[in-house]
Amino acid sequence: MIKLDSRLKALLSEIVGPIVADVGCDHGKLSVEALIGDYAEKVIAVDISPLSLNKTIELANEKGVSQRIDCRVSNGFETITESLDTAVIAGLGGYEIKDILSKKVPDIKRLVICPHQNTAVARKAINEFGYGAVRDYVVKSGSKFYQIIVAEKGLMPYSQKELRFGKNLPKSKDFDDMIISRKKVLEDRFAGKEIPEGEMLNEYEELVAICSR
Ligand SMILES: C[S@@+](CC[C@H](N)C(=O)[O-])C[C@H]1O[C@@H](n2cnc3c(N)ncnc32)[C@H](O)[C@@H]1O
Repeated sequence: MIKLDSRLKALLSEIVGPIVADVGCDHGKLSVEALIGDYAEKVIAVDISPLSLNKTIELANEKGVSQRIDCRVSNGFETITESLDTAVIAGLGGYEIKDILSKKVPDIKRLVICPHQNTAVARKAINEFGYGAVRDYVVKSGSKFYQIIVAEKGLMPYSQKELRFGKNLPKSKDFDDMIISRKKVLEDRFAGKEIPEGEMLNEYEELVAICSR
């Protein structure tokens, strides 16, 4: 078994096989543990960087799963033609995820997304791609909060209000903690002064509304 932090553990728990792609696999922990733990029969692990992909290849060799992993240098899904039961895109930004989903994409049953920034852009892109969220929740790992989105074809799109912070589905204490922590960051930054009109104020008003629910 590979030691995973709580973000990677949550991502692993969302994987449904048999055929899984890990886009932006990098260190390869998710791809390799999906095979060790039998979440997947076969993993197609891709990365745009040959150096990053090498880390996955080495880990797969070390853990004895290289027969079941297909490692490819690939920009997004460009080298993947197989139908996928689950495709994971984690640790990339919302704009990169949007770009990947707007290009050539194979048939995918279940999309698991964990953007490291610009999550609202990723949520919009998922909807534009024709998918809707079945789960959308927050996981705390160390001192950081991560938003995890699981989407399937043809489901309800996000409302405007859900784009920034998601659906809190299933409800979690980590979501509440993320909201409180982000609200405090904005309050500390403006230290009693009014927040100027614009994106920051919109975000702050959303945080206040969520806290008062
Ligand atoms: C921060 S790492 C994330 C690693 C892992 N997925 C995780 O969540 O821990 C991002 C990886 O995505 C790769 N990457 C960035 N853009 C990509 C793209 N368009 N297609 C495939 N891989 C990409 C980078 O080379 C890097 O290895």
